[in-house]
Amino acid sequence: MPSSEAPLDDLARTPGVPKPDPILIVDNVQRTFGGLQAVNVQSLQIQRGTITSLIGPNGAGKTTLFNLLTGFDRPQHGDWHLNGGALVGIPSFRVARRGMVRTFQLTKSLARLTVLENMLVAAKDQVGESFWGGLFGRWRHIEAANEAKAMASLERFGLDHMASHYAGSLSGGQRKLLEMARALMVEPEVIMLDEPMAGVNPALTQTLLGHISALRDDGKTVVFIEHDMDVVQEISDWVVVLSQGTVIAEGPPAHIASNHDVIDAYLGLHHGEKP
Ligand SMILES: Nc1ncnc2c1ncn2[C@@H]1O[C@H](COP(=O)(O)OP(=O)(O)OP(=O)(O)O)[C@@H](O)[C@H]1O
Ligand SMILES: [Mg+2]
Repeated sequence: MPSSEAPLDDLARTPGVPKPDPILIVDNVQRTFGGLQAVNVQSLQIQRGTITSLIGPNGAGKTTLFNLLTGFDRPQHGDWHLNGGALVGIPSFRVARRGMVRTFQLTKSLARLTVLENMLVAAKDQVGESFWGGLFGRWRHIEAANEAKAMASLERFGLDHMASHYAGSLSGGQRKLLEMARALMVEPEVIMLDEPMAGVNPALTQTLLGHISALRDDGKTVVFIEHDMDVVQEISDWVVVLSQGTVIAEGPPAHIASNHDVIDAYLGLHHGEKP
């Protein structure tokens, strides 16, 4: 169930509306590919500790916006801040260390590494990066701590029994779970999920939704790209609608479901109007 504590119900339902406690603030972020304006977000704030769903038709710019905000792509223009710190120009691994991670629409687990190795690659203090730590013999300690953390996380996601299996042997749904578990290795404050339900066996859908709610219940902020409006209604505290790169609506899920601009964006005509 959406968080009952989220103080969002009284906000204006207008694109760009300021939030009472924003963890992420986006200002005038623009990305064009050739002549195509993929993202043109004037203003967007994400409330801390909530699940915000980002919806919109295919090609609306949802994934591109995630890419930009997490340092996997660069905009031509714009600014964004996480906890007040500017993120423009910061590469993805540093964005992760600042506390914001994302998962990918097409899963990026490394098929020829084991499930546990996939987790360790994502760890904050991974041994390979810790040159000075290694030099002073600290690495064994770090490695053991990361492994314990990875196993605890795998257990939470029901993947601990697969720890020594190649990631390539996982089902599509298990791979989505691994991606989520892996993203949590850096102990992020904000986790951005790009269609975590897509291609997942319906039997696993509720499990995934449970995990996403649990992240919010742990105090994390979740931004969630999803096409299934039933899922969006069930899980979101707030919904942001992107169309042709622009935020055209935002509000509580019930408000969005009946918003004419949103219905237009999806269907291309007014609800109830004859084509
Ligand atoms: N690297 C790229 N080069 C050129 N065009 C791109 C690139 N990435 C995205 N686009 C274009 O930008 C627009 C937005 O794409 P994006 O993938 O962000 O949409 P989306 O909302 O995530 O769509 P979907 O729901 O299908 O995943 C699309 O028109 C897409 O073709
Ligand atoms: Mg996408």
